[in-house]
Parts: sequence; C-alpha cells; structure tokens
Amino acid sequence: MTIFIAFFCLTVVLLLATAWTGKLARRKIHLILVACTVSGLSITIYYAVQLGLEYDLESAGSIFPVHMFLARLAAFSYIAPVVSGIATIRNGRHRALHGKIAGVVIALTVIAAITGIWMIMAADKIAV
Ligand code: HEM
Repeated sequence: MTIFIAFFCLTVVLLLATAWTGKLARRKIHLILVACTVSGLSITIYYAVQLGLEYDLESAGSIFPVHMFLARLAAFSYIAPVVSGIATIRNGRHRALHGKIAGVVIALTVIAAITGIWMIMAADKIAV
C-alpha cells in the first residue's frame, strides 16, 4: 500500500510539473518530464494491480466496474497528449488543443484516483 501511494503521488507531481513546463514553453524539460511521468504511471499501474490482488474487489459493488472503466480510459488517454504534442512540435498552432487535451488527461487521472480509493475502501481485504 505504502509503495503504491508513494508512486501515485510521485506521478501526480510529475504530471503537474509536465503541464507547468509546457505552459512555460520549456520544451526540452517538458519532454524529459513527459518520459518521467509515463514511467511513473507504468510503475504506479503495476503496484495498483498488486494492491488489487490483496482485496476482493467485486465485494466493493458497482464502484468496481466503474473504476476499472475509468482507470483504463485514463491510462489510454495518455496516447492523446503524445499525438497532439508531436503535432505541436510540427506546427505550433496545435498548442492550444494540446493544452486542452492535457487538461482532460489530468482530470481523468484525478477521477480514476478518487474512484480507486473509493473502491479499495469499499472492498473486503482477503485474509492471508
Ligand atoms: C502527460 C503528457 C503531457 C501533458 C500533461 C502536457 C501538457 C502541456 C501543456 C499544459 C502545454 C501548454 C499548452 C498551452 O499553452 O495551452 C504543453 C505545451 C507543449 N507540449 Fe505538452 N504535454 C504532454 C505531453 C507532450 C508530449 C508527449 C509532447 C511531444 C512529443 C509535448 C509537446 C509540447 C510542446 C511542443 C508544447 C509547446 C511548448 C512551446 O510552445 O514551446 N507535450 N504541454
């Protein structure tokens, strides 16, 4: 649980730093932070799956499928800023759209996190 929370917080900080450096047009550091955010996200997903194995997630009720849908949607949504980011490098007029897409990705990440916490709190822990 502790290592999952640590990587989740690290990923959120990296995501906000990515958005901030994008706003400041610090392109090189922005791209380095994108790579760090995606790596952090991958490690967080790994630990989330490990954490899920300790719980009977179906016992959480309808929040279980809702969270699984939102978590997958949030993870796949990271493709959109990569595509729009490459488009922005090629043509600066895509910058505003890229910024809007980044906002949606951040919002989806937050919603997935809230429903994930809700699901874990509602689920029964599997006795070992
Ligand atoms: C999680 C992923 C990402 C987030 C959250 C993010 C966020 C942002 C934000 C908020 C902006 C400012 C947009 C505005 O002014 O409204 C920006 C700018 C930019 N981003 Fe991203 N971005 C991400 C990924 C990427 C990727 C993968 C690339 C390229 C491959 C990229 C390339 C750029 C470029 C070129 C700019 C414009 C900077 C400039 O004007 O020099 N971004 N980004």
